[in-house]
Amino acid sequence: MTQKLLSSKEFEEHYPGCFEIYNYLILKRGDGIVKHLETHMTRFIKRNSKFVKEIEELFKEYKEKDSMHHFFRSKVVRTSIKELQKELHTTYSQFQSSQDSKKEQLFEHSESISDLLLIHKSTQERVESYDEIYSYLCSGVVSSLEKSSLTILDIGCGMNPLSIQIFIEQFKSSNVKWIGCDVHQEDMNYISKCYEKFKFEGEFFSCDLTREDEREKINTKNVDILFAFKVLDSLEHIQRNISFDILKELNYKIGVISFATFSLGRRKRIPITKRAWILKFLEREKWTYSIYETDNEAYIVYKKK
Ligand SMILES: C[S@@+](CC[C@H](N)C(=O)[O-])C[C@H]1O[C@@H](n2cnc3c(N)ncnc32)[C@H](O)[C@@H]1O
Repeated sequence: MTQKLLSSKEFEEHYPGCFEIYNYLILKRGDGIVKHLETHMTRFIKRNSKFVKEIEELFKEYKEKDSMHHFFRSKVVRTSIKELQKELHTTYSQFQSSQDSKKEQLFEHSESISDLLLIHKSTQERVESYDEIYSYLCSGVVSSLEKSSLTILDIGCGMNPLSIQIFIEQFKSSNVKWIGCDVHQEDMNYISKCYEKFKFEGEFFSCDLTREDEREKINTKNVDILFAFKVLDSLEHIQRNISFDILKELNYKIGVISFATFSLGRRKRIPITKRAWILKFLEREKWTYSIYETDNEAYIVYKKK
């Protein structure tokens, strides 16, 4: 079951000390993290009742003394901020490429949409293998659909929709519509702008996949292919087994999910067989699948019944 999330209004009303921490983190990291932080804060409150009680008592005490800097200096508040920042980093910031500041420059000077794939770490890593993956997909399971036009839904898409030109070359038809969503609204605006410039058909919007209410935006779509590239690990980190709900509730015929085969930072190899949880799920659902591996990513391609 999906956990009920608390809104910032509820933090303010019932947990004013935690609300103070919430505001501090937004001030520090910017508005873009609001939705993400609501999720982490709710989970933090639910699993740390002892800490939360202490935070609320300290908040009351220091608020009365008008001495909030002492509140932020207390050990429990500092530890809580550290823990929340660590979680935000794992699920949110680590995927932001250092090239972010160059986005506008690249947009102005690029001659093809594929040039922009260098913006994001994930697409950057995949640049050399896009041809190979899309060729594998289009000559295999996608061709079994016998369709000359396709709609793709790409969840937690990052900059991946910018690979549309490469996909079209392998699919051998430009009748492709790409629908993409990600928790980062700014990235979705950027991709819309790129699609407009290079005249591709697409629809991009923000959606926090861990929130049931937000997923209504995509549950109503009826598409041919679902892409969930390197995103399920982040979601599982927030809520175990949430991937199962998402993969079941969406309307699509073919699913393509991928996982990094190297751990971030430590460059330790993680073989796909270590993802037994997802393989077992596909077997339980009786969705036939195949695995395709490139240098640093493994793709599971399956037919949804
Ligand atoms: C490793 S990146 C992969 C991006 C893209 N799918 C690719 O492979 O090129 C993970 C993506 O998942 C997104 N993400 C993380 N948590 C999310 C959530 N709760 N809802 C929607 N997107 C999320 C991140 O913003 C990021 O763009």
